[in-house]
Amino acid sequence: MNDIRERIIEPLKGEIDKIKNIQEFQVLKSKYVGKKGEISKLMKEIGKIEPEKRKEFGAFVNNLKKEAEAILEEGLEKVKQHLKEMEEKKSWVDITLPGAKRKIGYEHILKQTIRDVYEIFSSMGYKIVEGPEIETTWHNFDALNTPEWHPARDMQDTFYIEGKDNIILRTHTSPVQVRTMLNTEPPLAIISPGRVYRKDEPDATHSPAFNQFEGLYIDKNVTVGHLKATLEQFLTMYFGGSRKVLLRPSYFPFVEPGYEVDVDCMFCGGKGCNVCKGTGWIEILGAGLVHPNVLKNVGYDPEKWQGFAFGTGIERIAMLKYGISDMREFYRNDMRFLGL
Ligand code: DAH
Repeated sequence: MNDIRERIIEPLKGEIDKIKNIQEFQVLKSKYVGKKGEISKLMKEIGKIEPEKRKEFGAFVNNLKKEAEAILEEGLEKVKQHLKEMEEKKSWVDITLPGAKRKIGYEHILKQTIRDVYEIFSSMGYKIVEGPEIETTWHNFDALNTPEWHPARDMQDTFYIEGKDNIILRTHTSPVQVRTMLNTEPPLAIISPGRVYRKDEPDATHSPAFNQFEGLYIDKNVTVGHLKATLEQFLTMYFGGSRKVLLRPSYFPFVEPGYEVDVDCMFCGGKGCNVCKGTGWIEILGAGLVHPNVLKNVGYDPEKWQGFAFGTGIERIAMLKYGISDMREFYRNDMRFLGL
């Protein structure tokens, strides 16, 4: 019987030392103590043994099984210990190494731009006010002296709220002038940023929803000189350097006189380049002296009060400042753009 024991226990001891994981352990276990294993084979032999030796042989096989199980048990513990050590090694952290840097992100360029505009105009004593994006046609057009025939009122250019012919998504921030004057006694100075809507196909310079800011200053004896100085100050603080302003007469129904305002090109210093198309000037704002009809519409006496107003696109001034050529980048949320 000793040689039977040796034939089974010795190889088991050899094999158990080599196993590296639980799967290998299972294979080994079934090879020795499994249903079809070496020891089960011996158990089946018991019946064939002569009756007087049967008891002794039975006890031998049982002990052999216990011995094999003990060896397996010990082997399993060793494998588990080994696996645990490997795992610990893997998750070991060298706390002296520099940490993984996480990007915390940036404020979106449009938000930064609105903040810059806020700060510049606050420093000049302007108050920030906001108005609704869903507007009445009266605030958006009529009160702003924009007659029925004006192309800005065209159904094609504007989003109307379904079933209503007097409620629209505002097409500019100018109605905030009206709302402010209606509930404020002059003098006043406000700046109003916000989203506006137009029925435009998106391309590099158009979007059906974009941002503008509006400025309004009402006082006594206000002239175009005040307007020009204010815009020069804003553009200098926003773009840096020392900016010059060119007022070109233009038409906006709510101002008289009205101007397209150009700034000297910040890319070439006014010499002429691709961006300014060789002219040295870049169109940047619409502005003018508030039309007497607008003042009357909000209950101000135009003999007593005058003012200037101006408006421009937030995207437009941000594109010029940061050299962005496609407006759609602002809304795409591409991390490569946002991480600028
Ligand atoms: N509201 C005009 C637009 O969206 C911009 C503008 C022009 C605003 C002249 C003004 C202004 O206040 O005086 O195109």
